[in-house]
Amino acid sequence: MSVEALLERELEHFEREHPRSRELAEEAKGPLLSGVPMPWMIRWPGGFPVFAAEAQGARFTDVDGHEYVDFCLGDTAAMTGHSPEPTVRALREQAAKGITLMLPSEDALWVGRELTRRFGLARWQFALTATDANRFAVRLARELTGRPKILVFNWCYHGSVDETVATLQDAAVVARDGNVGPPVPLDETTRVVEWNDPEALERELANGDVACVLAEPALTNIGIVLAEPGFHDALRAATRDTGTLLIIDETHTICAGAGGYTAAYGLEPDLLTIGKPIAGGIPAAAYGFSAEVAERLEALLPADERADIGGIGGTVAANVLSLAVTRATLSEVLTEQAFERMIALGERFERGVAEAIERHGLPWHVTRLGCRVEYLFRAERPRTGSEAAAGGNALLDRLIHLYALNRGILLTPFHNMALMSPATTEEDVDRHTVVFNEAARELA
Ligand SMILES: Cc1ncc(COP(=O)(O)O)c(C=O)c1O
Repeated sequence: MSVEALLERELEHFEREHPRSRELAEEAKGPLLSGVPMPWMIRWPGGFPVFAAEAQGARFTDVDGHEYVDFCLGDTAAMTGHSPEPTVRALREQAAKGITLMLPSEDALWVGRELTRRFGLARWQFALTATDANRFAVRLARELTGRPKILVFNWCYHGSVDETVATLQDAAVVARDGNVGPPVPLDETTRVVEWNDPEALERELANGDVACVLAEPALTNIGIVLAEPGFHDALRAATRDTGTLLIIDETHTICAGAGGYTAAYGLEPDLLTIGKPIAGGIPAAAYGFSAEVAERLEALLPADERADIGGIGGTVAANVLSLAVTRATLSEVLTEQAFERMIALGERFERGVAEAIERHGLPWHVTRLGCRVEYLFRAERPRTGSEAAAGGNALLDRLIHLYALNRGILLTPFHNMALMSPATTEEDVDRHTVVFNEAARELA
């Protein structure tokens, strides 16, 4: 059957099976802008979003009573599985003893030490979202180096950080399509190069005006684009040679293991940022500094009453609730043993997809980083964000998401990503394999 015909069939099925979600989506147009709590929620396939009823572990149910295996897991914020017991226990206990005070608690020390043990960086600060952790890290990098610009890789995503929503157009830096309200033209703040292109990186850093490179250690937001052998060495050498700080954003690549890609592959960033799953989805994020950068910062930053007007902070950041929950989540949920299981499940998922692609002779491929797996509807693995973007197939993406949704499986929206949690089971993975096989058979 053609993709269009399949899509029509799946759309009909979706609308028929989700009357309550449809009703709520209509009602929501009253109180909510565009009928959704956040603008990107209108982009779910099916014409309206599925309204959630409740979630537990690797599953959730919707308001129409359907149960789903959740491979989206809040796009990594629920990589712990939904509402894991230790996280909920800490939440309950701490909430009864204070939520936010503007004072530190002992949990902040524990979490700082644990992050050092996992990622190697010497000192830490806390924020509520990965976006904010990136914003604060970028500002501190500019302050330290006295340089105005940052460098990012084409088709990166680091949250709604103004400087990062940039792309290359005929070698010029411009705002990404869909960027909302950029404060200044992006070429004033940002240099952009392709991932896995060390020559371009060296050329751009040679300008001497870049405070920091902000990079995921593998692109994960335009499909997964892994670093080629030697690229991380080139990145570290080029940043060191030019006095540019290297910020590694581990928000998604924590999927590589308990210490993220940084520990798994021995990276040596100057700063590191992370958010999303560290408190099981309760808003919490952290940014860390190497000993050398921490020392330079402590010498530079005002320690008097001017310290709180510098644009780094947030009244409810580092609140005692977030830190208590982070402590419980890191010590009891996102443990080394949990990652062993999750990565084995990722391998099983990858095998299932690869076998189906081969069996049906489709020109597609599958990539994995730890417990994160992604398939792309093209035969060649992309080397750069641009290649990955050009290889996207919006129609097929829509179809596969809807096909999966109609059979009780939620994939991460906007690409074909699946994430394993400590609560995910082999049966969950095999359920996806069966559904993916069926879709591949119908499409072949
Ligand atoms: C690598 C990376 N960094 C930062 C963020 C921002 O996270 P948040 O939206 O939780 O602030 C994202 C979100 O997808 C991300 O993928």
